[in-house]
Amino acid sequence: MTRFLVRVLALAALGRVAPVGALLFDSPTPDNFVHRSLARATVLGNYVYIDGGDLCQLENGRINDYRTNPVNSTLSIDLSTSWTTTNVHIRTIPKPGPNKINVQLFTDTERGAFYSWGGEWVRGTNMTATKLWKFTADGSGGGNWTPSEAANPAAFNDIHPGVWSAHTSTNTQALNIGGIASGWTELYRPHNDVLGGMLTYNFKSGIWENGTLGYSPYPTLMGGAAQFVPNYGPNGLVFVLGGYSPPVGGEPYIGSSTFSDLETITFFDPVTKKKYMQRTTGDVPPSPRSKFCVSGLQSTDGGYEIFVSGGQNERSKVMHYDAYVLSLPGFVWTRLPEPPAGPRSEQTCVIVGKRQILSIGGADRLTNGTGMTQKDEAPNGLLLFDMSTLKWKDSYDANAAAYQRADVIQAWYSKDAMDKVEWADGDVQKLFATETKRTSMLDPPPLAHCC
Ligand SMILES: *[C@@H]1O[C@H](CO)[C@@H](O)[C@H](O)[C@H]1NC(C)=O
Ligand SMILES: *[C@@H]1O[C@H](CO)[C@@H](O)[C@H](O)[C@H]1NC(C)=O
Ligand SMILES: *[C@@H]1O[C@H](CO)[C@@H](O)[C@H](O)[C@H]1NC(C)=O
Ligand SMILES: *[C@@H]1O[C@H](CO)[C@@H](O)[C@H](O)[C@H]1NC(C)=O
Repeated sequence: MTRFLVRVLALAALGRVAPVGALLFDSPTPDNFVHRSLARATVLGNYVYIDGGDLCQLENGRINDYRTNPVNSTLSIDLSTSWTTTNVHIRTIPKPGPNKINVQLFTDTERGAFYSWGGEWVRGTNMTATKLWKFTADGSGGGNWTPSEAANPAAFNDIHPGVWSAHTSTNTQALNIGGIASGWTELYRPHNDVLGGMLTYNFKSGIWENGTLGYSPYPTLMGGAAQFVPNYGPNGLVFVLGGYSPPVGGEPYIGSSTFSDLETITFFDPVTKKKYMQRTTGDVPPSPRSKFCVSGLQSTDGGYEIFVSGGQNERSKVMHYDAYVLSLPGFVWTRLPEPPAGPRSEQTCVIVGKRQILSIGGADRLTNGTGMTQKDEAPNGLLLFDMSTLKWKDSYDANAAAYQRADVIQAWYSKDAMDKVEWADGDVQKLFATETKRTSMLDPPPLAHCC
């Protein structure tokens, strides 16, 4: 309140009218770029698409009165050629839908489309009724947005869009766990409410489901993340990491709510919803942790690594300035080199060029009041990490080789460590323990001899 008054009085004293924003860009030059956060991204074919978020930039050498502004286009980056975080060409694609921050993107890789759900209207202007927006890519870095009607409108109309859910997409559906709804996420909502349960959206049928609390891996979850791991179990598995679970409904009290530590990990089958837990070993990342970025990829040796970076601990008001990888099937954490360019949360991470992580945007708004208005040391807010060499870098390599585990992670597997994993139960063991060098009784007998 005080700050708002000060700003209005200062403007009145100068007798100046607020600028109309005509000189702002959705993708400013690296020199004018200051900070981007709460943008969300996905990869379709050879392009990264970035949607939403707020952006701080220089306009005639200074930051304008609003400091940050919503982004009015969807951005895309070509992955078929190499670039650096400074010379990267970021294309802008017109967007008719609302320009929000912190949306949830659901990716339908098979149909070359993604959906934008929830998020906040910046400054609450021009809010409209809840819709699901669909972006259909054209295969050459562009595409178009259309509102997407639910096949079951009655159920859809009872669903509340929010922010800070844990969400991911399988090949057939989107899963959205928990989150929080507010007057910034939904038209005419009078108060904040922690959302319970899990939503699913089936890409093919267009059916939304609001699962009951029992059907979700957590009754509520705020600020956590989910990652679909396709290569274990009959339907793949969804890993749910970090975040807080305050009571459903009403304002969340982070200080008293339970949180998910990263030592015991929860995951579930996205079709049967059967839930599992398993203890991890190695360099377990500190928690509570929220608003961090997660991504993951399958290695040529049939394993899967989940990358986790940054985020924050609201309870002790500290930023997590770090990065880790959780290797499957061993459930072992490895601490990675510290990311360059300062601590950040609210960033988004995607896999690009076979084995590189692209981290987009993010800021420290928890401990640094000027986190958004000081120039991000990462050019354009972009950082890259090579999962095979375990090195941070400032360039994207379009010709990187297939992803093989880094030596330090592979070394863990070569020490018969898999035999020493203490499985939570036989079901988890069945999902992950690989039966190497064991001749099953069902195998055909070896050919007696030959020649
Ligand atoms: C996006 O549009 C809004 C409304 O016209 C404007 O206030 C804002 O400055 C624009 N954002 C950018 C980055 O130009
Ligand atoms: C609100 O809508 C009006 C009319 O379409 C438009 O001119 C204006 O730029 C919008 N404002 C924002 C902040 O999006
Ligand atoms: C799902 O339904 C429950 C019970 O009606 C409701 O409390 C909750 O807010 C709904 N979830 C969402 C995301 O709309
Ligand atoms: C605040 O964030 C900015 C931009 O990331 C950084 O340059 C600055 O050093 C930070 N200040 C503090 C006190 O951490």
